[in-house]
Amino acid sequence: MKNYIIALDGPAGSGKSTIAKVIAKNFGLTYLDTGAMYRMVALYILENNIDFNNVADVENILNNIKVDIIDDKFILNGKDVSLEIRTPEVTKIVSPVSAIKAVRVKLVDLQREISKGKKVILDGRDIGTVVFPNADLKIFLVASPEERAKRRVKDYASKGITEDFETVLKDILERDHTDSTRKESPLKKAEDAIEVDTSFLNIEESVQTISNLIKEKIGG
Ligand code: DC
Repeated sequence: MKNYIIALDGPAGSGKSTIAKVIAKNFGLTYLDTGAMYRMVALYILENNIDFNNVADVENILNNIKVDIIDDKFILNGKDVSLEIRTPEVTKIVSPVSAIKAVRVKLVDLQREISKGKKVILDGRDIGTVVFPNADLKIFLVASPEERAKRRVKDYASKGITEDFETVLKDILERDHTDSTRKESPLKKAEDAIEVDTSFLNIEESVQTISNLIKEKIGG
C-alpha cells in the first residue's frame, strides 16, 4: 500500500504515545513522538542555563542542537536522553519552550523530513493542523483532566518518580492552557479530525477504536 500519514493530536496525558506505539507495531508504521523532540530542546535549555523567556537567546542556541531519533531512543547531540526528557523539570518548561516560533520551525521541518516516503503515525499538538494538514487520517484524542493526571502519576511511578495527583493535575491544566492559547500552532482539533474520548476506554479499547478508523479510512 502507498505511504500515508496518520496525525494523532491531543492534550497532555490523553494517551497518545501509548496508543501510537501499539498502532505503529500492529500496522508496521514508523512512530514519531513529536513531543519528545520539543522535550529535547527544553532539556538542552535547562542543562545550559538558558533563559527560555529570552527568545533571542533561544534562537541563538538552536543551531547547537542536534536531534536524532534512532529506533526508540532520543539522541540529543549524540547522547541518549530518553529518560532525562521525561522528568518533571523538563515537563515544567517544555510548554513555553514549544511556544517559541523558531523552535517550532526547526522541529516541524525535521518532522516532515523524517516522515518523507514512509507510513507514519505522528503524535503531537499540531500534526493535523500545521505539520501535515493533508494527513490521510486525523485523530484528536481527548480525556478528562482528572483521568489524564491519574495516568501521569502512574506513568511517573513506573519510572520511579513520585509526584502527587494535585500537583500533576495543576501542571496538566496549566499546560492545556499554554498549549491551547499560544500564538504559534495552538493545540486545537483540525476541522476534519475525528475526536476519540479515552476517559472511559482502556488502552486495548482505545487501540481497537483507532485501528477500526485506520481500516475504514486507509485500509490495511
Ligand atoms: O506530548 P508531550 O507531553 O511529550 O509534549 C510536550 C510539550 O511539547 C507539550 O507541552 C506541547 C509541546 N508540543 C507541541 O507544541 N507540539 C507538538 N507537536 C508536540 C508537543
